[in-house]
Amino acid sequence: MTTSVPVGITPKSLRAMEPDKLVVQTMPTSGPLVDRYGRVHNDLRISVTDRCNLRCVYCMPEEGMTFMERDELLRFDEILRFAAVAKGLGVDAVRLTGGEPLVRKGLVSLVQGLSDLGFEDISLTTNGTELARHAGKLAAAGLRRVNISCDSLIPGRFAAIRRRATLDVVLNAMDAAEQAGLLPLKINVVLLRGQNDDEILSFAQFARETGRTVRFIEFMPLDAQGDWDRAQLVPGREVHDVISARWELEPIERSASPAPAERFRFVDGAGEIGLISSVTEPFCGTCNRLRLTSDGAIRNCLFSDSETTVRDLLRSGGSDDAIAHSLRSAVWGKFPGHGINEPGFLSPQRSMSMIGG
Ligand code: 5AD
Ligand code: SF4
Repeated sequence: MTTSVPVGITPKSLRAMEPDKLVVQTMPTSGPLVDRYGRVHNDLRISVTDRCNLRCVYCMPEEGMTFMERDELLRFDEILRFAAVAKGLGVDAVRLTGGEPLVRKGLVSLVQGLSDLGFEDISLTTNGTELARHAGKLAAAGLRRVNISCDSLIPGRFAAIRRRATLDVVLNAMDAAEQAGLLPLKINVVLLRGQNDDEILSFAQFARETGRTVRFIEFMPLDAQGDWDRAQLVPGREVHDVISARWELEPIERSASPAPAERFRFVDGAGEIGLISSVTEPFCGTCNRLRLTSDGAIRNCLFSDSETTVRDLLRSGGSDDAIAHSLRSAVWGKFPGHGINEPGFLSPQRSMSMIGG
């Protein structure tokens, strides 16, 4: 599957670009999942639960979060049916997300099911708390890679930001993931001004020492409590400047890859970092993602409230063609960009843990 990056436009210039030209006039009825702007969607994120055992400050309030009822969630057989249809439309990468995906019982069997469908690129985004005991089984079932969230390397601070978890457990999860061959290991760090932005160099050092890719993520307006404030965000550019003042960095060519992280290697050869500058340098122009929420809604963008529900279709004997049509229409309705930097932007009604990262 190739993406629709026009020849002659570098990935760098595409990053800042929101597609403004309608390049496809009518919704295709065959071929890959393409939107009006020519973006091909081959990366499906499946949220398996909105629940989580943590309450990270940038994601959820400490108390009072409400969650979906059990019967609202798609069953694994429903998820697999949907994934099979998506695969027929060219989706070849699946990432399992939450909330925290490992709080959903039996996740290993879902991974096995996806693997049996022929998906080779199966990955997981996790908070790491439950990973150590499942890593081997997940890998054996066909999981390839994991992203583990870790926002501080100082134990007291880690606990303050993530509430309900400790640093040692998550560091153990990283070791377990590596032992299970879930490589390359990526570590997600959400930087918050005044809380952990003094750890940029420590995380860079951590990346150099461990060979794990540390990815610095800008705080996005997706917290359930609606407290997002641009002043709390640490721009990716600043992270680059702080690190490169200490160790020389060079960009890693991305051969038109749609991955959101801008990657840099340390010139002296020790490891790499990634910058996910969703707010200050939107990468909507190359977005190839679509999402399935745990209650069965297709979302074409993290920041759009327009959803296409497929749960009723799945539960009322809807045909594969009808599911495929829902997928095509959802992708077709995708906006060119997230609009965070435009006046009048409103945070989406569903927060990150309800959509999946
Ligand atoms: N802004 C940026 N990243 C977030 N995450 C959760 N909430 C936010 C937010 N408001 C991250 C988590 C995890 C991934 C799923 O998304 O830290 O790495
Ligand atoms: Fe849970 Fe992830 Fe949200 Fe933290 S960021 S509360 S680990 S869903």
